[in-house]
Amino acid sequence: MTSGAEPVPIEVVPTGFALGAEIRGVDVRKRLPPETAAALREAWKQHLVLLFRGQTGLTDEQLIAFTEVFGPLQDAPNSEVTANFGSFRDVPKEVTIISNIEVDGRPIGALGAGEADWHTDMSFIDEPPAGSCLYAIEVPPSGGNTSFTNMHRALDTLDADTAGAVAEAWCVHDESLTSTGAQRRGVPEVTDVRETPGARHPVLRTHPDTGRKALFLGRRRNAWLVGFDVDESERLLDRLWTHAADEDHVWEHRWRAGDIVLWDNRAVMHRRDPFDPATRRLMHRTQVAGGRPF
Ligand code: SIN
Repeated sequence: MTSGAEPVPIEVVPTGFALGAEIRGVDVRKRLPPETAAALREAWKQHLVLLFRGQTGLTDEQLIAFTEVFGPLQDAPNSEVTANFGSFRDVPKEVTIISNIEVDGRPIGALGAGEADWHTDMSFIDEPPAGSCLYAIEVPPSGGNTSFTNMHRALDTLDADTAGAVAEAWCVHDESLTSTGAQRRGVPEVTDVRETPGARHPVLRTHPDTGRKALFLGRRRNAWLVGFDVDESERLLDRLWTHAADEDHVWEHRWRAGDIVLWDNRAVMHRRDPFDPATRRLMHRTQVAGGRPF
């Protein structure tokens, strides 16, 4: 969403935690001049998670146009809930609805009101999205906070023994369960992690834009370090997940309606707190397309 208009001065306010910055001075409904778009991409590279407050009333088309500032879009995943939408899935194919709201007893979106464990969006496919852009339309009065962890920092601070053990390792990124632990329709239940369905990716990946290395993890359950003895794989994965979730690497975001948060899946994992299912939470998410992790 760029134009030949005058550059808009933006203010980048770091969260003070291991990642994340609030961007002030941008109305994402307006077409952004190329200099402003470039400044946003630079801020994203540096801070990995960007927060834009006060963007209420955005249409899906505006959200899509804004996301395109950061790269071409990737379609929404084909999840159980997507298949459930039936005739009331009336959003563009690029938009994933994340919501606990039900219409006629059927969920209109993914993830419900439960806790979503640490994960990387859609990493169970060969070319997972580079970024995710989540727009808050309705938020509950409490709960539903989303936390982000800096996977560059997690790798930089990992103990040498574990780092050495996984330096050349690949991991299966489970496709069978969502981040809330729900079974995806049409994907068999995993009884042996050596048969987990999903893409296999290097545990250490390189960020294509910055060349920095990061830990790359998908979902803890059903993960397996390919070729490892299962017990050794479990031990190392427990160590990696515990370390990645260390509060030293984490920033937690408390949502307000109108917030947009854009995160870099190549260097960030995230999780979400549960919230009262009697309250409503409605978010629309777009995905920036990504390449094969290396
Ligand atoms: C997601 O995992 O993409 C959604 C996170 C959230 O609901 O806050």
